[in-house]
Amino acid sequence: MTPHHKTKTRAPQRPGARGWVGRGRGEATLLDPASEFRGTTVQVCGLWPWVAGSGTPMIGVPIGRHISTGATLCCDPISWFQRAKLIRNPSVFFLGLTSLGKSTTVRRMATGLAGYGVLPMVLGDLKPDYVDMVTALGGQVIRLGRGRGHLNVLDPGEAKNAARRLREAGCEKQAQEIEADAHGRRLTMVTALLAILRKQAPSDVEESILDQALRVLDQQTTHTPVLADLLTVIQQAPDSVREVAVDRGDFNEYQRITRGLEASLISLSRGGRLGEVFAQPTTNPMRMDRPVVYDVSSVTETEEDLRSAVLLACWSNGFATVNIAQALSDAGLEPRRHYFVIMDELWQALRAGTGMVDRVDSLTRLNRTVGVGTAMITHTISDLRALPTPEDYLKAKGFVERSGMVICGGLPQAEMSDLTPIVGLSQAEQDMLVSWQDPPAWDSRRGEEAEPPGLGKFLVKVGGRPGIPIRVDLTVTERQIHDTNKLWHQQSRLGGQP
Ligand SMILES: Nc1ncnc2c1ncn2[C@@H]1O[C@H](COP(=O)(O)OP(=O)(O)O)[C@@H](O)[C@H]1O
Ligand SMILES: [Mg+2]
Repeated sequence: MTPHHKTKTRAPQRPGARGWVGRGRGEATLLDPASEFRGTTVQVCGLWPWVAGSGTPMIGVPIGRHISTGATLCCDPISWFQRAKLIRNPSVFFLGLTSLGKSTTVRRMATGLAGYGVLPMVLGDLKPDYVDMVTALGGQVIRLGRGRGHLNVLDPGEAKNAARRLREAGCEKQAQEIEADAHGRRLTMVTALLAILRKQAPSDVEESILDQALRVLDQQTTHTPVLADLLTVIQQAPDSVREVAVDRGDFNEYQRITRGLEASLISLSRGGRLGEVFAQPTTNPMRMDRPVVYDVSSVTETEEDLRSAVLLACWSNGFATVNIAQALSDAGLEPRRHYFVIMDELWQALRAGTGMVDRVDSLTRLNRTVGVGTAMITHTISDLRALPTPEDYLKAKGFVERSGMVICGGLPQAEMSDLTPIVGLSQAEQDMLVSWQDPPAWDSRRGEEAEPPGLGKFLVKVGGRPGIPIRVDLTVTERQIHDTNKLWHQQSRLGGQP
């Protein structure tokens, strides 16, 4: 007999799961499933035997239940980074088709984090999805849009004040950093507006002219400047600006170089498509000690340019405020605050044209990430693929790659070839995501569409580890506060339906 054969015939030392298998030996043919109970360690501390722990740590905001085991999943970028040490940086990237519950899930995270003392900052709410939540949390709602509110792109916001306070406290270096950051952000915003307006990025000479003109403007004025003041500086042609324009002492040459710039700035500062929102003094300055939402829902879908510009401006302002708050608390001048920054509908800002990814990248960088979590939300990788140049796509892909965790909802099959190299999905995971994008069935009894199969279902991926499939169930309060079909429901009630 071969050794292999020997092991096979040797009698087992212990009975198997069904007892000693075979007739007359007590084999159990029918197995009663054991009842399962779930409880916290405090509630069931004395229970023994057969206790099993859950797979993921119970650290963070309770998000949903594991689809197959029913175990609770607690998960949010800040807790998983700071306390559970599961992810490399406190950020989450959401991908998934529309109306499958991305914003709703992020809102759950934000509400939970607010309970831990983290301030949610929603930088640009197009629906509005978050206004009710922020209002319920006692936060600040900043309305932007034609006739609703202005955001002056040249307003340094709290930066001036903060730099002064830092100087008084003897932190010269930090004060300079804040000023440099504010200058950079304002320049990026003006160039972004020009790029969106002209559908073409400004040339590098024009950028240097703007850069220098902004510096001159800051030296000249004591009040907060607006775009019209910037235009005046360029028209006045101070020496330092003429120097970077390289006009070689020829004023006619200077006028030729700055002509395009002047025309664009005139268009912006006289109102125009974009100017109305960005060229007036800021109506409602952002606070750093409260939850904040920028309500930009009045900008309609057809105004694509304005949407991108508004989103970009919100991100710029929001990140500037967070940076300032962090610098002030590092210097001991303000209490340490934690923020959860939400950027929904990322693709709407990216598609505004060439180089937009770079601007988003530079505006959404934080000098200090201590206690700041970010959430970026978009539909699909194909949205990023549709960006004007391959470089833009690579950079946008970097947003996903650099995120601490990626949470995917239902996605089409065509996404998988692009997504798998970035997120590392197994075949089973891919099949699951694709099944979640199936259209909803028709519920003939109720005469309406049933819930789509992928509603509230997500796969949580961290690094190359197997994903955690979860289902998010809304609480009664959440259902009431966040009914995005509010108007629709009111209408059907008015229409006399039961
Ligand atoms: N887990 C869920 N259970 C039930 N309804 C949900 C759930 N998540 C979202 N919804 C509902 O589905 C709709 C779309 O959700 P939303 O979060 O706006 O989707 P997305 O941001 O992905 O487009 C909303 O009306 C919302 O109330
Ligand atoms: Mg949404």
